[in-house]
Amino acid sequence: MTRLLHIVGARPNFMKVAPVLRAGRARPGVEQFLVHTGQHYDAAMSDRFFTDLELPAPDVNLGVGSGSHAVQTARIMTEFEPVLDRLAPDWVVVYGDVNSTMACSLVAAKKGVRVAHVEAGLRSRDRGMPEEINRLVTDVIADLLLTPSRDADANLRAEGIPDAKIRFVGNVMVDTLLALRAKAAASAAPEAHGVAGRPYAFCTFHRPSNVDREDVLGEILGALDDLAATMPVIFAIHPRTRQRIGEFGLERLAARVTLLDPLSYLETISLVDRATLVLTDSGGLQEETTVLGVPCLTARPNTERPVTITEGTNRLIPSRRAGINQAVAEVLARRADGGFQPGRPEGWDGRAGERIIAALVPD
Ligand code: UD1
Repeated sequence: MTRLLHIVGARPNFMKVAPVLRAGRARPGVEQFLVHTGQHYDAAMSDRFFTDLELPAPDVNLGVGSGSHAVQTARIMTEFEPVLDRLAPDWVVVYGDVNSTMACSLVAAKKGVRVAHVEAGLRSRDRGMPEEINRLVTDVIADLLLTPSRDADANLRAEGIPDAKIRFVGNVMVDTLLALRAKAAASAAPEAHGVAGRPYAFCTFHRPSNVDREDVLGEILGALDDLAATMPVIFAIHPRTRQRIGEFGLERLAARVTLLDPLSYLETISLVDRATLVLTDSGGLQEETTVLGVPCLTARPNTERPVTITEGTNRLIPSRRAGINQAVAEVLARRADGGFQPGRPEGWDGRAGERIIAALVPD
């Protein structure tokens, strides 16, 4: 019997664990536990994803909540240690690049429990991003590095990680996207928001580098409002962004933009699939738009997901009003020429969850 302990904490983890849990259930000799750290705790950031993704209720919820990076990381570590002792797994499986990923990896590695990192090897080379620190730390201590794309393999090798620890498995989030695309379409979110059959833009922004500074957030909101003069702009707002707009008093800047609370997974995919374009700073949306063939403008100076540019629909743009407006105009012109096609990088095929279980559980 192989005992797996899967760790999730924040919104982007949930769509990654679902296909692995499913593949594990289908494999004899696998026993699985799901630990939720409680990094995200609002119904809109967590519970609704469990419903949409048909995830089982977590076996354990550490209930850590929000805090500074140090406080949140320390709380996760303290709360996770006794759970790890009690469940004594063969593997701790961590996902993505959030604080929960790094915190639980550290606890397991120091106890001599093997760590497998799903979505290993991605690098933005920007240590100003908290996620980049989480990726570096997790990858250096993990025993098995399960990579989503070939650039990730190359990054790990360049950092001196031995080949034996690296396993290319493809992009597990795409498993979820392909499995739920039809169900998402049936949720008819464009109809519910009055944009069905019309051009519209969908956007999300939550990176500290974009939303924690008043001037930068003001530039982004200004550009979204400019675009909203020509087509509906639907902005699904992360709690931290909502908080900052309020603190900085920027509501008026985005007067024409439709501001929505965070949406469920199915609503989001339903809206993205039929959008004219997506504007974002999310990691996941860069990948989802590539697979769906929807143009994506990412307001960041770098990306840890370069295949979304070389093989997909993504483009990096400045977080400045004029630069965003120019990029939007270029996308709309290219779209009118039929210029965007779905991209399908190697291993983005809906079978990554099965390959992850095959890597973890010996035959
Ligand atoms: C975290 C991840 C980020 C990921 C994002 C997706 C880290 C370092 N960052 O960022 O990589 O892209 O999740 O959403 O792990 N809040 C709520 N309700 C919640 C959760 C958070 O209101 O359920 C508010 C709190 O005010 C909190 C703030 O959002 O302080 C930030 O939450 P936090 O978990 O610290 O990071 P995210 O910005 O969500």
